[in-house]
Amino acid sequence: MNTVVITGASKGIGHATALKFLAAGYQVFNVSRSAAATPGITDIAIDLSSADFEAVITAKLLPQIASPEKLILIHNAAKLASGSLQETSGEALADILALNVTAPQRLNRMFLPVMSAGSAILYVGSTLSEKAVANSFTYVTSKHAMLGMMRATCQDLAGLKIHTACICPGFTDTEMLRAHVGQDSAILNSIAGGSAFGRLIEPTEIADLLFFSAENPIINGAVLHGNLGQIES
Ligand SMILES: NC(=O)c1ccc[n+]([C@@H]2O[C@H](COP(=O)([O-])OP(=O)(O)OC[C@H]3O[C@@H](n4cnc5c(N)ncnc54)[C@H](OP(=O)(O)O)[C@@H]3O)[C@@H](O)[C@H]2O)c1
Repeated sequence: MNTVVITGASKGIGHATALKFLAAGYQVFNVSRSAAATPGITDIAIDLSSADFEAVITAKLLPQIASPEKLILIHNAAKLASGSLQETSGEALADILALNVTAPQRLNRMFLPVMSAGSAILYVGSTLSEKAVANSFTYVTSKHAMLGMMRATCQDLAGLKIHTACICPGFTDTEMLRAHVGQDSAILNSIAGGSAFGRLIEPTEIADLLFFSAENPIINGAVLHGNLGQIES
């Protein structure tokens, strides 16, 4: 059976992506702290920032996907924090990197042995994987690192017929974005106005990009921006 493992599919982009793969007949696993609580999605409760989550994957997830036809691994869970270079301690940077960068690699090592030809590793980056803004030091750093991981993944897995891509959403209407702007609708409207289409992106639109990337191995080592065109100021 075709299988997809998505980190952070309890809500937002990850949840929309889980529903997309479910509709296409995939066996769908969500790895996050809270549950997606959606029929058809198997929840594996894990804090991906923790030091010992591999044991839970080994005990609860891997036995359910002994030999999938193909396995799509989507690194989507992430943490967004504000703060400038001047304000950011080494510990604060390490905290963000643990979830946004190190956890994906820990999962890569666990799932690679069960990935056959046709499988894929997809990274959810950000517009901030390729550009920076002020006061988002840890997030910008982590999302650039993720893009580098994707490129290294492409090179190191050459010949295995496992493809990879980094899908970079622009401003998408999710809890992460709303929490980041303090639920302020004026700020949300202003952000929406920064897109060439004058609106926020729907999580389902990013889910469509992820699904297309999973199904098309010609997209390998590629960076796909899904941002409706951002107006540069
Ligand atoms: N929304 C945007 O505008 C935007 C723009 C660019 C890029 N992105 C990227 O898109 C991805 C999804 O973001 P989103 O907007 O959909 O965010 P979201 O709605 O806040 O969802 C984040 C997901 O990550 C999970 N997560 C957070 N911390 C975790 C942890 N320690 N362990 C396990 N799971 C954890 C959350 O689940 P639990 O809380 O249940 O653990 C949740 O399912 C992220 O990589 C984000 O950087 C978003």
